[in-house]
Amino acid sequence: MKKAIWDFWAKRYHRLWVQKESLKPTREYVVDIIQQEFNFGSMSFLDIGCGPGELINLVKERIENARITGVDFSRGMLEASKKKNKEARHLLLDAENLSEIKEKYDVVACTHSFPYYRDKIKVLNEINRLVKSEGKFIIAFASANNLYDKMVMSLVKLTTGPAQYPSDEEFRDMIKGNFAVESRHIIRESFYMPTISVYVLGRI
Ligand SMILES: C[S@@+](CC[C@H](N)C(=O)[O-])C[C@H]1O[C@@H](n2cnc3c(N)ncnc32)[C@H](O)[C@@H]1O
Repeated sequence: MKKAIWDFWAKRYHRLWVQKESLKPTREYVVDIIQQEFNFGSMSFLDIGCGPGELINLVKERIENARITGVDFSRGMLEASKKKNKEARHLLLDAENLSEIKEKYDVVACTHSFPYYRDKIKVLNEINRLVKSEGKFIIAFASANNLYDKMVMSLVKLTTGPAQYPSDEEFRDMIKGNFAVESRHIIRESFYMPTISVYVLGRI
């Protein structure tokens, strides 16, 4: 059921209203940070829950010589990404099985996918192993920090299936021991959008 809903969205994803307000500004912010703040040379980049590969596509366009891997558990999403990003490596994998990946990366990104993971701590432990010692983990998600956020996200949940949107406090608690927060940025294109947090994390 969880995968099936994402297979359903794979063909319709580019038409979602959240593209303009949330998904597009998130990926632009993520790529801006990578370009402006870090100099990894020929960067290795892993996108977890890559969906139809829009972030991968932007990284490919804007960052020279990036070596890119995308992971998603939805076959429909992964096929859509493969079509757009032929030179990237793609793995059909549940984020809870990241132990199957042996390489380490300069940048690991996870945008708008984390709330759907059942065992979030397990995923965070695995991501810690996948990030090089000087590497970065960039994660973005809708974060339920107040009553308004909770109301909006309970409506969104009707279209995605089970999800838990950690508040800032809950998220900081989850990453304890694995990552330190280097920055947190809120994406707010319109006043009616819930809190969308983007964290840049360094390994501890
Ligand atoms: C809202 S989309 C985000 C896609 C993309 N990262 C973006 O920002 O546009 C959520 C994605 O997470 C994937 N996903 C959800 N749970 C997952 C899991 N346990 N393992 C791997 N991928 C998962 C879904 O298949 C879907 O492609």
